[in-house]
Amino acid sequence: MRTKKLHIGVLGSGAGSNMQSVVDAVQVKKLNAEINIVISDVAGATILDRARTHNIPAHWLDCSAYRTKLDGEAERACIQLMNDHGVDTVVLAGFMRIVKRRLLDAFPNRVLNIHPALLPAFPGLYAWKQALDYGVKVAGCTVHFVDDGTDTGPIILQKTVPVLEGDTPETLHARIQEQEHLAYPEALRLISAGCLRVEGRRVIMNDSTPDASAR
Ligand code: GAR
Repeated sequence: MRTKKLHIGVLGSGAGSNMQSVVDAVQVKKLNAEINIVISDVAGATILDRARTHNIPAHWLDCSAYRTKLDGEAERACIQLMNDHGVDTVVLAGFMRIVKRRLLDAFPNRVLNIHPALLPAFPGLYAWKQALDYGVKVAGCTVHFVDDGTDTGPIILQKTVPVLEGDTPETLHARIQEQEHLAYPEALRLISAGCLRVEGRRVIMNDSTPDASAR
């Protein structure tokens, strides 16, 4: 299976374990990609330290003009940074802001997000806690293309985990994150192999899908 190298820009606000899973997949040649830049809206975020450890350019972006979105001057600066670093695919990895149209238009159908729930259930914050409080028996994660809504874009793939008796928000989130770390590299592999096309709300997978070791 022929694949096209992805040039990834990561946006994240926290620990960066999903970013790490992409780095790891690239290192063991399970994903034909390079992370060209990591940008965070949180100055001391661990995701920036992780990026520097791997010699990936790491930038803090002052987004303080807005509380919950990436907009205005910060949005413009973000697009500029991504373009300057040759990014063609934007990966939201625990980025706790809503991205707006200008960024989506700059990377059409190339902005992805991972959400710690089986969308469309439990969009928004602390999705694993929402799921636990609701009493579901199966939880999971979703990788999707980003659109104008919050956690509403076309779904690329989902992975499930059981909810166990005695789960706390922390134990359930940890179980979901194990699946996230498989899901994001897998979704990116499908994109690099040109296997996906978007038709309305549906992401259609071509007949030939790459095996896990394909480059
Ligand atoms: C992940 O669980 C991700 O799904 C979630 O934040 C965590 C970030 O972890 N994202 C959201 O809740 C977005 N709505 P990480 O920084 O270790 O990748």
